[in-house]
Amino acid sequence: MLERTLGIVKPDGIRRGLIGEILKRIEDSGLRVVALKMKQLTRSEAEGFYYVHREKPFFNDLVDFMTSGPVALFVLEGENAIERYRRLMGATDPKKAEKGTIRSDLAESMQCNTVHGSDGPDTARFEISYFFAATEIVKR
Ligand code: CMP
Repeated sequence: MLERTLGIVKPDGIRRGLIGEILKRIEDSGLRVVALKMKQLTRSEAEGFYYVHREKPFFNDLVDFMTSGPVALFVLEGENAIERYRRLMGATDPKKAEKGTIRSDLAESMQCNTVHGSDGPDTARFEISYFFAATEIVKR
């Protein structure tokens, strides 16, 4: 199924100059970048994005981290894009991520895990529309 998914290079990835490396892995996998921008999230934007995690013990630290510097936001498109990008990223905890995945190779910790990706079709729809207007997404 042709899908779109929302991806983020998190502040730790931006600080370490990893935008190019991450987009290279994505492009080499055959997924198409159909929207892309840099953004400094406000607290309320980060809280809204991670609303489903609002009761988790790590929520405040997560919001602190996600607002600690700019992020790169992008929309990917392709057949089964959601699952393919999740496989490229690897498990949330870089210590548990498979070798060769973005998080296994590049991420520092469970919190500073360098990239985000939507975890399913409903989440992808919510997350894409949270950051991108329809007019910011290109056809290719
Ligand atoms: P992400 O895929 O963006 O979704 C929620 C984020 O919360 C996750 O990546 C991690 O950055 C963070 N996270 C998830 N679980 C934990 C945890 N147990 N401790 C700290 N941070 C976490």
